[in-house]
Amino acid sequence: MELFDSHAHYNDEKFDDDRDTIIKEAYNSGITTIINAGYSLESSKKAIEIANQYKFMYATVGVSPNDIEDLKGNYIEDIEELAKSYKVVAIGEIGLDYYWNKENKEKQKEIFMEQIKLANKLDLPIVIHTREAVMDTIDILKKIECKKRGVFHCCPLNRELVKEALKLGFYISFAGPVTFKNSKNAAEIINLVPIERILIETDSPYLSPEPVRGTRNDSRNVKYIAQKIADIKGLTVEEIAKQTYKNAQKIFERKI
Ligand code: NI
Repeated sequence: MELFDSHAHYNDEKFDDDRDTIIKEAYNSGITTIINAGYSLESSKKAIEIANQYKFMYATVGVSPNDIEDLKGNYIEDIEELAKSYKVVAIGEIGLDYYWNKENKEKQKEIFMEQIKLANKLDLPIVIHTREAVMDTIDILKKIECKKRGVFHCCPLNRELVKEALKLGFYISFAGPVTFKNSKNAAEIINLVPIERILIETDSPYLSPEPVRGTRNDSRNVKYIAQKIADIKGLTVEEIAKQTYKNAQKIFERKI
């Protein structure tokens, strides 16, 4: 069985001691494609540098709503420059986060929109981070069409958000929280999403799924997300692995 981890952060310092070992172990255990996600200029650069070392790893570049405060100069040009790397498959993670930052909503929206325009210019999909900002996120996506669509990464288990995201043509990526015992509506939300629109991810090193919750996460744990979806959909884990792999290849189509 081959699995596609559509969102991980091997650029995080939590992997500084054993990054190469973990990445190789993940690959050898069947995680045969990994997207290494940037969230700031620095981490995007690092995401590409790491992806360059593995033929099965790709990268996204972008600035997340929690990393906009120290942006200066023409950051859009900087992201565009990074996106020239053939390893870059999307602009992300970008979006809105009113959980961590309530004071700069207008600035968050502006930077989200600028990066969507860049994705359109470069013909790339986007990877969205959204937290406690459902309405504003949907409003922006209705206002500016994302030509290549994209993915709601670690999608919040919110019915309205998922319905609107699907209507707009986006993919829904599920992460560790769907396995958490306190995620009461995980089954309801997973059942809302047709299997052709589901991606799976770890968001490593964060959000480890059950039964390894609380430990440092890595791509090998994506199997627990696949299993959870399989149980809810009444399918085998192999079927989920195969379909989510196909979906991820479709959305992150290579530009070369
Ligand atoms: Ni992330």
